[in-house]
Amino acid sequence: MKPVDLEGTQRVDACPTLETDRLVLRPFRDDDVDDYFAVLDTPEVRRSLHLPESLDRGDAWQQMAWFLGQWVLRGTGHWAVEERSTGVFLGRAGLHCPERSDWPGVEVGWVLHPDHWGRGYATEAGAEAIRYAFEELDLDRIYSCILPENGPSQAVARRLGMELLEERTMAFFPSAAHGIWSRAR
Ligand SMILES: CC(C)(COP(=O)(O)OP(=O)(O)OC[C@H]1O[C@@H](n2cnc3c(N)ncnc32)[C@H](O)[C@@H]1OP(=O)(O)O)[C@@H](O)C(=O)NCCC(=O)NCCS
Repeated sequence: MKPVDLEGTQRVDACPTLETDRLVLRPFRDDDVDDYFAVLDTPEVRRSLHLPESLDRGDAWQQMAWFLGQWVLRGTGHWAVEERSTGVFLGRAGLHCPERSDWPGVEVGWVLHPDHWGRGYATEAGAEAIRYAFEELDLDRIYSCILPENGPSQAVARRLGMELLEERTMAFFPSAAHGIWSRAR
């Protein structure tokens, strides 16, 4: 349900739109919800992110709002990622800094539809997010929190020049330790 027609008046300027060779990184829009849920609802992404079976379209919308709101509140967030040549919605990537006392810092992260894995899109989006973190946000260091079982995500971190600093359990995910990957400017 969309109670108010905000067309043309949405304040999404806190989240910039950026382009790379093959991608557009842009703010989430309300009408991304089906495409974004389609990403989360694949067995591969559900398994990798340990999403609960109950996670539904409404939860996907809440995540979009969480990321878009984070841009407004603290200048970080995930972008919706589109393929430049086709406009196809690929997933999300960007900078995440939730209000969690044991979170290491601004995290670079990536979640793409499995149909678009194996093309270097996550690495390309991650590289642009890191550039934005260092050049536009003037950060000295970025982090990635990756479960040791998540080989593809670790491979992206390695390709982006990140190193494993430590493994530790964080309160939001008490059942396993996350690897804390990092790269300095
Ligand atoms: C993590 C995730 C984004 C990685 O996706 P990916 O497609 O493997 O990563 P990239 O986009 O960087 O692509 C790398 C692959 O594309 C290949 N590739 C092809 N063209 C390429 C190019 N131009 N540049 C770089 N790599 C390229 C690489 O060789 C590599 O292939 P390989 O997997 O056979 O080694 C994906 O697995 C995912 O969405 N997982 C579920 C969500 C998740 O776990 N997120 C992370 C939570 S910590």
